[in-house]
Amino acid sequence: MSHFSRRQILQILTGVALLANPFIAEAAQVPTLKCTRVGQTIIWRDKKYTCVKSGNKLVWNKGVPVTPAKPTPSATTQPSTQPTPTTSTAPRPAYTPPPDEFAVAKSANLKLNQPISVSNPSLNYPARGYILIRREDGVIAFSNRCTHLGRDVEISGSQLVCFAHGSYFEATTGKPTGGPATRNLILLPTIERDGTIFVVDAP
Ligand code: FES
Repeated sequence: MSHFSRRQILQILTGVALLANPFIAEAAQVPTLKCTRVGQTIIWRDKKYTCVKSGNKLVWNKGVPVTPAKPTPSATTQPSTQPTPTTSTAPRPAYTPPPDEFAVAKSANLKLNQPISVSNPSLNYPARGYILIRREDGVIAFSNRCTHLGRDVEISGSQLVCFAHGSYFEATTGKPTGGPATRNLILLPTIERDGTIFVVDAP
């Protein structure tokens, strides 16, 4: 009686559901890393996501596209976070970070497109290490563990290199560009607050 087989009807129903709810199709585009703090940001697949509250849950927002910054050799970069005197003289209470937030660098030490290597002795043996880089769209942090066999990645000019077996990565994106490593360096959420850069990492 029907012109459609059961399989065709199922395909049509699935298509209608996706059209009606585009978030189903977009679900795979959201970072898999859990967001734990409102305001936390992460850059993933060329988009910057911010952690927001949705009802009782913390979720990544839809993200905005970002374009990796082009390296600029100029050493006269204007700091973007100059403290500005305000009329308020009341001292603010010192920020106490939660247990998974680690202060790893001062904002002033991070120049545009110049990666730095930092360690986190709070997570000891072996101390966790990160590569920080300030892009035009914010500060990002990579784990310094090579995605080939976990040796340390180091900064070499404008690239990141694991000398163990010769893997190379782009400093601004963490993408492998040569050698045996085939996966991006692991990205960690960062927060820049009051002149300090925090990395969110599992204790
Ligand atoms: S562990 Fe880094 S290239 Fe092998």
